[in-house]
Amino acid sequence: MRTQVAIIGGGPSGLLLAQLLHRHGIDSVVLERKTKDYVLSRIRAGVLEQGLVQLMEQAGCADRLRSKGHVHDGTLIAYGDTMFRLDFTDLTGTPVIVYGQTEVTRDLYAAREAAGGPIEFEVEDVTIHDADTDRPHVTYNVGGAARRIDCDFIAGCDGFHGVSRQAIPLTIRREYEKVYPFGWLGVLSETPPVNPELIYANSPRGFALCSMRSDTLSRYYIQCSLSDKPEDWTDAAFWQELKRRIPPDQAERLVTGPSIEKSIAPLRSFVTEPMRWGRLFLCGDAAHIVPPTGAKGLNTAASDVHYLFTGLRQFYDTGATDGIDSYSAKALARVWKVERFSWWFSSLMHRYPDQSDFDLRIQIAELEFLRTNRAAQQAMAENYVGLPY
Ligand code: FAD
Ligand code: DHB
Repeated sequence: MRTQVAIIGGGPSGLLLAQLLHRHGIDSVVLERKTKDYVLSRIRAGVLEQGLVQLMEQAGCADRLRSKGHVHDGTLIAYGDTMFRLDFTDLTGTPVIVYGQTEVTRDLYAAREAAGGPIEFEVEDVTIHDADTDRPHVTYNVGGAARRIDCDFIAGCDGFHGVSRQAIPLTIRREYEKVYPFGWLGVLSETPPVNPELIYANSPRGFALCSMRSDTLSRYYIQCSLSDKPEDWTDAAFWQELKRRIPPDQAERLVTGPSIEKSIAPLRSFVTEPMRWGRLFLCGDAAHIVPPTGAKGLNTAASDVHYLFTGLRQFYDTGATDGIDSYSAKALARVWKVERFSWWFSSLMHRYPDQSDFDLRIQIAELEFLRTNRAAQQAMAENYVGLPY
């Protein structure tokens, strides 16, 4: 098989890139290790920046997002006996949209299918060849048959555990990592959200987040120990712990119900440099991970896709390579700012096992500063709604 861009990974990065390329007349083949149902069963991000919304428009996939997504003008931050609101629209002129990653992915699959664009599911042993030459190719197995795709470029959109990053030689690749001493236990339940806006809570028992997917579907998270397993937590134990971590009036109003999904995610900051090697480009979680506080993972994958799509489009339109040549530097400049924000917001909102009384006082002073200082609120809000591309 021959295509212009071989895309490894059928998550949001790979699918969005494929659809943007398709709308511009550039062919691609998407290779996905799992089934479509499996990809759609993963419950992940829920808050979209305007940049991602605009890319979905550009990809011709924003109709459902526009009708079913909820505009959120602000968020609540709770600590001690205090709760305050950050008004994003007042502070930055921009709201965020609450619309699940599952739905984004579903819309992108629907568009890919409508366009008749090739996707191979359940591929195995994907291997990248000759990425440092002008004639790269990818080999893989599907249903027991060996396949080969010759291409102009390879987009490594295969997430943190994919093969693309590993294809960059260690003499060239540099990785930066910070692992946090806790995880997030997340529950999805068919109950109305406790509050119309998200609540981020720093409580003495640890962090909690009240989020949602719709008026009838809630998503809640609590900070948990890295050794916890989802099956250690009954629904009753989860609800009880959540109630102890959020303001009492919210806890009173909280509607509980059976969980329809329960999972634990470890928290990690990770960046690999460079994000390009020859004709291989890394996008999204393949190149970087942020701790989830602030909902930046999916949104940062989207900004990578924007830079890569812009570079590839320029190459196919004019033959110029400056867009693809500057891809890694441009993407990384934004990635590091998002890493900083996610690290800062995580540090502000969680209880650390080794936190001293001094550290705790500093955390509270920082929360007080954020509550009372408009410049601090503006800096927070600009990052939360999404830095410009
Ligand atoms: P992925 O979504 O990981 O997609 C990569 C795809 O590549 C997958 O479908 C995978 O099956 C496929 N793949 C992997 N290896 C291969 C291979 N060798 N060959 C072919 N295909 C392969 N972000 C937030 O903003 N908020 C959240 O609440 C949040 N929660 C999260 C919870 C969890 C458990 C995880 C893991 C992530 C979470 N994130 C969250 C991050 C966010 O979901 C990711 O940033 C986003 O999914 C990145 O998209 P991606 O397409 O780059 O990678
Ligand atoms: C969600 C996840 C986040 O990490 C976040 O900061 C906000 C919302 C969510 O899954 O809804």
